[in-house]
Amino acid sequence: MSASTTVKHPGTEKFAGTEPIMNATDLTAGYLPGVNILNGCDLVCYPGELIGIIGPNGAGKSTLLKALFGLVKIHSGSVTLGGEDITNLKANKLVQAGVGFVPQTNNVFPSLTIEENLQMGMFLRPKLFSERLDYIYDLFPVLGDRRSQRAGSLSGGERQSVAMARALMMDPKVLLLDEPSAGLSPVRQDETFIRTRRINKAGVSVIMVEQNARRCLQICDRGYVLDQGRNAYSGTGRELADDPKVIELYLGTLAKDVDESH
Ligand SMILES: Nc1ncnc2c1ncn2[C@@H]1O[C@H](COP(=O)(O)OP(=O)(O)OP(=O)(O)O)[C@@H](O)[C@H]1O
Ligand SMILES: [Mg+2]
Repeated sequence: MSASTTVKHPGTEKFAGTEPIMNATDLTAGYLPGVNILNGCDLVCYPGELIGIIGPNGAGKSTLLKALFGLVKIHSGSVTLGGEDITNLKANKLVQAGVGFVPQTNNVFPSLTIEENLQMGMFLRPKLFSERLDYIYDLFPVLGDRRSQRAGSLSGGERQSVAMARALMMDPKVLLLDEPSAGLSPVRQDETFIRTRRINKAGVSVIMVEQNARRCLQICDRGYVLDQGRNAYSGTGRELADDPKVIELYLGTLAKDVDESH
């Protein structure tokens, strides 16, 4: 790891000499030719890390995850997976290479049952199906109980669970999650954060975008604050949560809301 990597990504010093699982360097990307939404983003994830991405609405958080997963055109910069260049590789190739992605919305097949949705994730590796299914139903007991129910009849939070379960069926090395706690009750949000940590502790590297910034910084190893398509701040979750500038600019309102509720 070069000195500049450490400067760009404070908190990574202990990984000196380790190959990152995913490394995005100086990304510019967008939906239309000549119009960049990401304006030079950097993100690194080392094996076993849980990375949080926070920032205001429209900052480009979802765009960054989609760029990593080959769904948004990268105009310049590069992405590597375990040292191999994967810049602009298509999503199906990335799934085979060990990347899982759970989008923010429209993330299940509504007319299929829960179990059929899980099977859809397995088209590349049918032999693994039953083994992974046991693991998934242990992680999400509710999905096991309701395996024959159509996904379209589930609540938003339950659909999010199905989408996460589907990505996990492929046994990914790195999981990209876009706002897994969005729209959930506080109890369900907490379950989601705990489950995400459990998945991560079982060996899956996680890159998670979250609206619930304070909670995200509590559970992630390191975080990135994205603003207007650029890295604004990065560091360990604790450093960011304690940084007066981050609090003032990105956590202030939330902190006030929490205080007022007591
Ligand atoms: N499919 C699209 N086509 C064109 N522009 C888009 C598209 N999706 C997003 N954008 C634009 O890209 C910018 C960043 O959007 P993005 O969804 O990445 O933000 P975000 O940080 O995820 O926001 P949020 O917190 O609201 O989810 C916005 O200005 C948005 O209008
Ligand atoms: Mg988003």
